[in-house]
Amino acid sequence: MNTPQILYLSAADVASVGLDPRTIIGLLETAFREKGHGRVEMPPKPGIHTKPDAFIHAMPAYIPALRAAGVKWVSGYPENRGAGLPYISGLIVLNDVDTGLPYAVMDCTWITAWRTAAASALSARYLARPESGTVGILACGVQGRTHLEALALEFPLKRALAYDVAPDVQRRFVEEMGRKLGIEIAGVDDPRTAVADSDIVVTSGPILRQPVPTIQRGWLKPGAFASAVDFDSYWSPAALAEFDRLTTDDHAQFRYYRRLGYFQQTPDPDADLGELVAGIKPGRADAAQRTIALNLGLALDDMAVAPEVYRRAAARGLGTSLPL
Ligand SMILES: NC(=O)c1ccc[n+]([C@@H]2O[C@H](COP(=O)([O-])OP(=O)(O)OC[C@H]3O[C@@H](n4cnc5c(N)ncnc54)[C@H](O)[C@@H]3O)[C@@H](O)[C@H]2O)c1
Repeated sequence: MNTPQILYLSAADVASVGLDPRTIIGLLETAFREKGHGRVEMPPKPGIHTKPDAFIHAMPAYIPALRAAGVKWVSGYPENRGAGLPYISGLIVLNDVDTGLPYAVMDCTWITAWRTAAASALSARYLARPESGTVGILACGVQGRTHLEALALEFPLKRALAYDVAPDVQRRFVEEMGRKLGIEIAGVDDPRTAVADSDIVVTSGPILRQPVPTIQRGWLKPGAFASAVDFDSYWSPAALAEFDRLTTDDHAQFRYYRRLGYFQQTPDPDADLGELVAGIKPGRADAAQRTIALNLGLALDDMAVAPEVYRRAAARGLGTSLPL
């Protein structure tokens, strides 16, 4: 019997595949349409927690239409930044859908960064006004960057207002993203300015079990869309109660996080992203609604993208082949 081989892809290998954000949004669109029609398998993520506000999660999913099966084993440690280590780290393992054999192991950080922004951009397609031109980015880290870039593919963006508690992070974001996207980016000194003038607001700060909510009722203008990838950490309960539409990416996982202590004062989502993409629930109803996506990040997102990264890497001879 031949020894089965696994392709190992480092973070640099995955990044050098250079999968473009438009393709990633397209892969997620397929995955969420399948989910909306009940054609994916994805149990809520179990996790272990070695420190407060830190997590290590197991995220398995199977998407038959994409012949994608596997698991992401991912950690998030907010204090890592101070030690010069990444907040998010982990591995994705892909399994053959016919034999179950693992065939690839890859670093998950690049895929996590992009699939999260792609899910927000997809939510925004259904929930933001199509003419949205100004984006507020609150927290200019990895997610702040990928979100601005993914949103620029979906909307005619002219301006971004960037806020981060770390002035050097904010300054680099303004310089580098302005150069990359060719739009006006202004660094702002307080979060309210980033929210009040924006058609789309992204909050991507740390996820805290005991949130210190910053955004207050009345800050977000009517007609704006928000994407909070940091759960309810940035938004006060009164600000969350002001939304006309509140969505998530998966109802079951939303309930799961509630049981863990998050979203204690957040209204129930009225739709998930699969229901929006599959046309089972409507998107924005009029130009005045305030809408928000509270996407939690799903194994589905990773499984939509990782097999395509594998295929392109294998075709280019990237990575290291290892015996099982
Ligand atoms: N929902 C999802 O699918 C999903 C997926 C990946 C990451 N996340 C979450 O997104 C968040 C950002 O992740 P990342 O990889 O970009 O982290 P990162 O460390 O690259 O960026 C976080 C940034 O937040 C800034 N910050 C901290 N407190 C702030 C505050 N009060 N206001 C403004 N800025 C503040 C930091 O200075 C840093 O620049 C994390 O909470 C992470 O857990 C969610």
